[in-house]
Amino acid sequence: MTHETILITGGAGNLARQLSDEFASAGHNVVLADLPPAAPDVPHEYHVVDISDRERIELVLDKVRPDRIVHFASLLSGQSEEDRARAWQVNMDGAFKLFEAALATGVSSIFFPSSVAAYGAPLPEVVPPDQPQWPTGLYGVTKACVERLGVYYHHRFGLDFRCLRLPVVVSRFAPPGAASAYASRCFVEAATTNHYTFRVRPETRPSLIYVKDVLRAVQQLITAPAGQLTRRVYNLQALSPTAGELCRAISKRVPGARLQFAPDAEVVQLIESWPVRFDDTIARNDWGWSPHFDLDMLADDFLGELIDGDADGRRLRGTG
Ligand SMILES: NC(=O)c1ccc[n+]([C@@H]2O[C@H](COP(=O)([O-])OP(=O)(O)OC[C@H]3O[C@@H](n4cnc5c(N)ncnc54)[C@H](O)[C@@H]3O)[C@@H](O)[C@H]2O)c1
Repeated sequence: MTHETILITGGAGNLARQLSDEFASAGHNVVLADLPPAAPDVPHEYHVVDISDRERIELVLDKVRPDRIVHFASLLSGQSEEDRARAWQVNMDGAFKLFEAALATGVSSIFFPSSVAAYGAPLPEVVPPDQPQWPTGLYGVTKACVERLGVYYHHRFGLDFRCLRLPVVVSRFAPPGAASAYASRCFVEAATTNHYTFRVRPETRPSLIYVKDVLRAVQQLITAPAGQLTRRVYNLQALSPTAGELCRAISKRVPGARLQFAPDAEVVQLIESWPVRFDDTIARNDWGWSPHFDLDMLADDFLGELIDGDADGRRLRGTG
């Protein structure tokens, strides 16, 4: 990919702040758009944009003239259930306005992160590529709709829409508003406060992915030659540990950590309706997807970084 100007909506969020650094290191010009206020230390051009404000989006696209938009602005699962009207306004209307503004200003490429939440129970143990989507939460409903909207803009107007249904992402900045944040917070809290209470069951087991694999997958998909893509929306599989297995992986590396379970029925019901494992053969065949991190590597890397900035975890394992 030649050096591009990439505009990231939801640019102050968890994934955007990590992806923006990767893009910048690869030589791209990164421009962020999000609600106010911009964090004072954001190292990239930053525009205050409410994604439900069509005029403002168009003004910023006109000014920035991005080669590509990465559309991360969204309310997450927990927030969407708490404020359905706002979730519809941001996740649905916001995406529609962004697609329309992209057409009006000549932006030709949009990447969109869908989610495991775009499916709902009952599901087979391994979710096939064309499994019907009947999401149980509003967040998942909006994700499934925006997938379809993007495919429509691709077929009707030639927009280069590319989308990944991301498993639950394990990441340092996972926002507490996501019901799925437990998979990240258990590591962060164990490393920083030495205790964590899981609000899911030890058996709860949605498909997970480490943030470093997400950053790689996004870059691989958006740089894949168009001729190699046989679809617009791809499933990914990385790992599917139970919460109990996460707990044991942490205990092994942070021996004094006090980890306990106090399941919340609503959280359990939502997360246990999500896929456990995907058939991601098409992503592997089309653009070479393959995850790097299994649970041991993830735990070493993540806890290593959280505890002492030692990304490969050698010191944690006593081999550094
Ligand atoms: N983190 C995960 O596990 C995961 C999994 C699957 C998909 N995703 C998707 O990836 C994207 C990024 O997720 P994240 O984990 O970084 O979440 P995040 O909550 O950290 O980021 C979302 C950003 O959207 C912004 N936003 C909200 N309303 C807005 C509005 N009206 N106008 C402009 N910006 C607005 C928020 O301020 C926030 O910075 C989201 O679309 C999310 O649905 C995340």
